[in-house]
This record gives sequence, structure tokens and C-alpha cells, in this order.
Amino acid sequence: MLILTLLASLGAANGYIWPSPQLDALESIRFDQDGHRAQGISVFIEPCDLFVFSASPSGRADSADWIRTAYHDMATHNATDGTGGMDASIRFLEEISRPENAGDGFSNTINVFLAHANRYVSIADTLALALIMSVENCGGPEIAFRGGRVDAGEPNAPGVPEPQQDLQSHIDSFARQGFTQTEMIGLVACGHSFGGVEHAPFPDIVPDLNDPTNLKSVAHFDSTFAHFDNNVATEYISGTTQNPLVVGSNDITNSDKRIFSSDGNATMLAFANSPELFASTCATLFARMVDTVPRGVQLTEVIKPLPVKPDSVQLVLNGGTLQLSGEVRFWNTTADPNRVVSLLWDDHVGGTHTVAMKASGTASAVAGRYTSAWYAFNSTVDPVAGITSMRFLVDGTLEDQGGVGFAVQDGIFFTKTSCITSQSPRTARFDVAVRNGLNPTRLVLEQELRDNVNRPIVVTTEISSSTQSVALNDAYSLWSGSVVDSGAPGGFTPGAHTIRAEVGGLNITANGGQFLSLLPPCPV
Ligand code: HEM
Ligand SMILES: *[C@@H]1O[C@H](CO)[C@@H](O)[C@H](O)[C@H]1NC(C)=O
Ligand SMILES: *[C@@H]1O[C@H](CO)[C@@H](O)[C@H](O)[C@H]1NC(C)=O
Ligand SMILES: *[C@@H]1O[C@H](CO)[C@@H](O)[C@H](O)[C@H]1NC(C)=O
Ligand SMILES: *[C@@H]1O[C@H](CO)[C@@H](O)[C@H](O)[C@H]1NC(C)=O
Ligand SMILES: *[C@@H]1O[C@H](CO)[C@@H](O)[C@H](O)[C@H]1NC(C)=O
Repeated sequence: MLILTLLASLGAANGYIWPSPQLDALESIRFDQDGHRAQGISVFIEPCDLFVFSASPSGRADSADWIRTAYHDMATHNATDGTGGMDASIRFLEEISRPENAGDGFSNTINVFLAHANRYVSIADTLALALIMSVENCGGPEIAFRGGRVDAGEPNAPGVPEPQQDLQSHIDSFARQGFTQTEMIGLVACGHSFGGVEHAPFPDIVPDLNDPTNLKSVAHFDSTFAHFDNNVATEYISGTTQNPLVVGSNDITNSDKRIFSSDGNATMLAFANSPELFASTCATLFARMVDTVPRGVQLTEVIKPLPVKPDSVQLVLNGGTLQLSGEVRFWNTTADPNRVVSLLWDDHVGGTHTVAMKASGTASAVAGRYTSAWYAFNSTVDPVAGITSMRFLVDGTLEDQGGVGFAVQDGIFFTKTSCITSQSPRTARFDVAVRNGLNPTRLVLEQELRDNVNRPIVVTTEISSSTQSVALNDAYSLWSGSVVDSGAPGGFTPGAHTIRAEVGGLNITANGGQFLSLLPPCPV
């Protein structure tokens, strides 16, 4: 009991215990930003005034679009009945075409982020992350990120505030979303640290600027439109602001002016006087904003970087040989040619094995605030002895996840004989090695696809015990299943296929959602 409590608290200090497919996926999309094994999102905000959708200098920024998209997705929330909120309903054409969602920033953002969702990371999670990355990577404070948002299957009711509405409507609107008047001032100032109002969707607020350094004619909220800072407040208080929702020629659409001055400027004055207060207030409000989800949605714990994180751990049976390969990320660590890293693994019969690992790359996150060093391993394992868990030795220091080790599952995995036919309809045959004695009641191939409203879904195909009952070696038998190419987009995306076995009422998944990266042609 004492030991269990101790392990649980160590685990909590380090975030969570690896492996955990959902938390591993959320952690990666959150922290593997630049360099080795980067997830390919941050390139859209490097530099922060990058706008990939038109010629530059456009006056626009992907970072600003992402923050506004997250807000407009959340702003449909009704705190009384728990409907709406961060659920990616902003992706529906019906919502995008409402007057309250004028501009093309929403479709631009959705087009970038749809591809990054998967069975563990919803589209709404990626939209929350989009805001967080924009703020953190462009000069702002770090923001707590939780996963587990659920994507809506249909549009939400309207409810995004618009600049021509009066102050009371805005107070009521933010109250419905779950925010007080003071929080409204904060959230608007925090959001309007980025971007501005563009001429095309708001011609009555911003004239055509005819400015070759601002091709999209955007009147910015402050002088640093792609950088998080309190200039939105200092410029407002000093009376030098060019914010088109404060000093616009038509007072009816000066909503920021009405909102910022609605408490006699007290909040804006405090923000202007303290960049630290502004940053910490925004970190709290942005986190609450993206965690505003429809009632019943259960978010995960705050995702923290794992200090030591195995990734892409694969066991593949190649003839009689079991090949173990993978990588490990050491967080907050720079490259060091003198560092000695090795993998220790335990087998089923009490043995421990050691292999040297070699540096495979470096990476960084949060605009270079964190660096990490990656190391790779690739070794053969005796199939009979198998493998139960891994540990790592870094210059003599043991990294074993607080004593629990890094569990490796050798009960099921793909074999190299998996292949794909070349003649139409193309059929993929997935051969799975099943450890003798495991006796699964059921084995399924899980393929990740999208439903008709783009939500990631998992489609299963049964895998049966091979009719020939091939004994692969003393330790494993072959099971086999086929999938016919449906012509669906991503029908055979190899990374989308994982295996799951049901054993004694429990699920076993091939380690970390293991997959084959390439299917060779089947022999004819
Ligand atoms: C009463 C509340 C609000 C009103 C009336 C309002 C209004 C507007 C308007 C008219 C634009 C110009 C959009 C365009 O030109 O495409 C804009 C841009 C923007 N808003 Fe708000 N907003 C409000 C609250 C917020 C909040 C709470 C956030 C975030 C937390 C936010 C974030 C942004 C961002 C980042 C942009 C710049 C978008 C870009 O440059 O692409 N807004 N807002
Ligand atoms: C929010 O939900 C409550 C309870 O269903 C409802 O009475 C109220 O009209 C809703 N508010 C808006 C603005 O739709
Ligand atoms: C708030 O500050 C603005 C800008 O300095 C100023 O024009 C306005 O009069 C102030 N409003 C109040 C109520 O103090
Ligand atoms: C990063 O590592 C250094 C020592 O190498 C340590 O002093 C620092 O606290 C670590 N930072 C974080 C955020 O873990
Ligand atoms: C591991 O080594 C084996 C044998 O050299 C090779 O066939 C395989 O491609 C390697 N795997 C990885 C992931 O590098
Ligand atoms: C096993 O996984 C399937 C599919 O994800 C799920 O429906 C089922 O509830 C799981 N069973 C257990 C015992 O966790």
C-alpha cells in the first residue's frame, strides 16, 4: 500500500506513467514542436507574423487567426444549459457563413488543423492548442493545456459578440459564456493583443488602406500585432492607440472602447502598469476559455512534458528474429557528444540486457524555450525470452519512471510478412504475431478514418488465427487479417492501422499504437 502510494505520487510529479496512448499523443502534439520528430504545426507561426494564405506583407498572421478561431468556437457556450463551447463546431459551413463569423480566418485555420486530429486528439483539442501555441510561441505566457474535447456533430446556436452591439449585450454575452464583466475586459484585451480588423470583411470599420506593407488592409489592435504584450493596454491608456474598435470613425462599432472603459479603465490601467499582471491574467483566462466545453465532456489532467519519453517503440518479427526499435526523448536536455546513453530491458525469464543508444536528433519547443535530445535504439530480442520493460542509463543515472520502468508489450505485434497486393482492388494483409499462451478471445485491426463530419473514428476488422496455424517459432503463432481498399481517403494510410487483442476481458494494444510504416507488395 505504501509502495503504491509512493509510485502514484512519483507518477503525478512526472505527469503520467508512459505508455498511455491518449496522453502520449496529446503530449507529443503539445511539446514536439520543432526539429526532430516535430509535429508540423509551429512552422505556420514561424515567424509569428507569417500568413501562409496570401502574398506578404499581408498585415495578417496565422497566429492571430488561430486565437480568434478558438474564441469564436468557444463563444457559443451557454453556461446555464451547458451547450456549445470548444467543440470545433466552427468547422461547419453553417457557422462559418454567419455574419458573426465574418472573414476567412476560420476556414484557413480549420484547413491547417483538420489534418492534425487523430483518434486521441480531437479537432477541438487542436484548436485549443492552436491558441496556446500562438500565445506561448509569440512572446506570451505558458498556458495549461488539457485534452479530451469532443468534436460536435452539428453546428451550435449562434452567439459570438459583434462590434456594433451595445455594452449590455456584450456583458450579457460573456456572462452566458461564463465570464464576468472584468473577465470580459481581460479576455478581449488578451485576444486583441494579436491581429486587427481587415478591410474586406469589415469595410465599414476599416477603409482600403492602399498600403504596400499591409496588402490585406488590416488596422491592427496595437503596434505589435503578432506579438503577445500589453501594448494593447499601454497604447489605449496613453491615448496613442490605433485600435479600430476604439478610435474607429463610426462610434457604433467601437466595442473595445465601450468594453475597456466599462469599469472606469481600472482593469486596462492595471494591465498597462504591469506586463506581468497582463501575462498572468491572460494565461488564466485563455486556459479557462479553451477549457469551456459542453456539459459532460471530461478533460484530461494538464499535460506536462514527460522528462523521459519513449516514442515509436516497435517490435517486429522478421523471420525468427524479434527486432526491437524506437527512440527516446530526454526533455530539457541539449546535445552532448560525450553523453553515454544505454537501454536496459528486462525479459520474461529474469534476464536484463543492455544496448548502447545513439543520438538521433535534437528538438525544441515554445520558441526555443525548451530543448530536448533524442536517442535511438535498434536491437534484436530473443523471441522466447521476450521483453517486459525498459529502463535507460544516462551517464550513469538510471531513468526508470520512478521505479515502474517503461512497459513494453510483446504479446501482439505485426510481422514483416504483412503486405499489400498490387492488382485492383488492392488488399492489405496484416500478419500479426501472437505470443503463445496469450490466448486472445479476439484480435482486431483498428483503422483510423473520418466520419462524414470529419471526426476521427476507429473502424475494426477481425483478425483470425491463421488457417494454416503457422507456428512462427517457439514463442509466437501467426494470425492474419485483410482489408480491401475502399477507396476512402487514407484507406491504407499505414500509420492508421493498429492492433488490439482482447485477453481475459482486458484489452492489449501493440505498444503505443504500433504500426508498420510500409507495406511491401505481396509475393505473387
Ligand atoms: C465583444 C467581443 C469581441 C468583439 C466585438 C470582437 C470583434 C472583432 C473584430 C470585428 C475583429 C476583426 C476580424 C477580421 O478582420 O477578420 C476581431 C479580430 C480579432 N479578435 Fe476579436 N472581438 C471580441 C472578442 C475577442 C476575444 C475574447 C478574443 C480572444 C480571446 C478575440 C480575438 C481576436 C483576434 C486574435 C483577432 C484578430 C484576427 C486576425 O487578425 O486575423 N476577440 N475581433
Ligand atoms: C441558455 O440556456 C438557458 C437554459 O436552457 C436558456 O434559458 C437561455 O435562453 C439560454 N441562453 C441563450 C442566450 O440562448
Ligand atoms: C479611459 O481611458 C481613455 C483613454 O485614455 C480615455 O479616453 C477615457 O476618458 C477613459 N475613461 C474613463 C471612464 O476614465
Ligand atoms: C532544466 O534543466 C536544468 C538543469 O539541467 C534545471 O536547472 C532546470 O530547472 C530544468 N528546467 C525545467 C523547466 O525543468
Ligand atoms: C533495425 O535494424 C534492422 C536490422 O539491421 C533493420 O532491418 C531495421 O530496418 C531497423 N529498424 C529501424 C526502425 O531502424
Ligand atoms: C476494449 O476496447 C474497446 C474498443 O476501444 C472498447 O469498446 C472496450 O470497452 C474495451 N474493453 C475494456 C475491458 O477496456
